[in-house]
Amino acid sequence: MNSTTKNLETEILSAIAAAPDETSLEQLRIASLGKKGSISERMKMLGSLEQDERRTLGAELNELKSKVASAIAERKQALSRDALAIRLKSGSIDVTLPVRPEMRGTIHPLSHVWEEVVQIWGDLGFTVAEGPHIEDDFHNFGALNMPPEHPARQEHDTFYFNEKPDGSRMLLRTHTSPVQIRTMLSSKPPIRIIAPGRTFRCDSDQTHTPMFHQIEGLVVDRDITFADLAGTIDAFTKAYFGRDFTSRLRPSYFPFTEPSAEFDIQRPDGTWLELGGCGMVHPNVLRNCGLDPDEWQGFAFGFGIDRLAAARHGVDDLRDLFTNDIRFLTQF
Ligand code: PHE
Repeated sequence: MNSTTKNLETEILSAIAAAPDETSLEQLRIASLGKKGSISERMKMLGSLEQDERRTLGAELNELKSKVASAIAERKQALSRDALAIRLKSGSIDVTLPVRPEMRGTIHPLSHVWEEVVQIWGDLGFTVAEGPHIEDDFHNFGALNMPPEHPARQEHDTFYFNEKPDGSRMLLRTHTSPVQIRTMLSSKPPIRIIAPGRTFRCDSDQTHTPMFHQIEGLVVDRDITFADLAGTIDAFTKAYFGRDFTSRLRPSYFPFTEPSAEFDIQRPDGTWLELGGCGMVHPNVLRNCGLDPDEWQGFAFGFGIDRLAAARHGVDDLRDLFTNDIRFLTQF
C-alpha cells in the first residue's frame, strides 16, 4: 500500500475509534467519505495518473473506503451500546439505599377503621358478606318493604342509570341493606353476617359525601329478640370504643325493620355520638326472601364507617377523607 494511503487510513481509523458520540462520528464520515471528503478528493486525482498507477491506487482507495465505512458502523453500534448501558444503570434501583423518610406510606384512616370494625364483628362470630354496587330496584328497595310509591325512597337521593327497554332502571345502591336480601335469598338460617361496603347518595356537604361506606349486620335464627339486638350493639360498643362507653337505642322508623331504632354511643364525658339504625327484620322482608316469620326472626343494623372514622380522629369535614391530600392523610 502506498504510504500516503496508509497514513490516511491510520489517521481516519484512529479518529473513528476515538469519536466520543454519534455527531462526531457523522462529521468524520463526511470528512472522509463525503463528496468533498479526503478519500473522495483522492479518488478525483486518479484521472491524472498513468493506467497502472491508477489501477493500484484505485483498488487501495476502494478498499480504504469500505474499511472506513465498516469502522464507522462498528463504532456507531458500540456507542449506542454504551448509551444503553448508561441509561440502564442510571435507571436501576439500588435496593441497598436507605428509605427516604418522606416517601413512607400510611394506611388510610378509613381503611384502618374498616379493618378494626370487621375484626371485632369477626370476633363476635359474624362472617363478611358482599353485594354489587350496581343494584336493581328489587334488592335496594322493593324486597326491603319499600314499594315504588314509598315516601322513604325520596330520602335516599338515588343515583339512577338510564332506563332499560323494559322501563326498569339500575341504580347505585343507597345502603348496604340489599346485601341482607341477597344473603337471605342465597343461604338458609341461621345467618350471622356483616356487609361492609361502598354506598352512594346524591348529597355532598360537611357531613355527607356522594360515596360513603356503611356496614350492615344481619342475624336470622329462631327466637331472636330485641334484647339480642341491644346486647349485640352494646358488645360492639365496648369492644370498639372501650369498657367505659355505653350504647342506647332510640325509637325510630325504617320500612324494613319493626320495631326500629337508632343507636347512639355515649362517651365517658357524657356526650353522644349518633351512629346508625337497627331493628327487628320486618316480617314482610323475611317473606320476600322466602322465610316464614313464624319460624324465623332476625335483627339488622347499619352504620356509617366514615362517620365512625371521623369521630375517632376528630375530622370535622367528611369530604376531607376523600380528597387524598397528603398533608391531611399523613396526620394519622
Ligand atoms: N339501611 C339503613 C340506612 O341506610 C340503616 C339500617 C340498616 C337500618 C339495617 C335498620 C337496619 O339508613
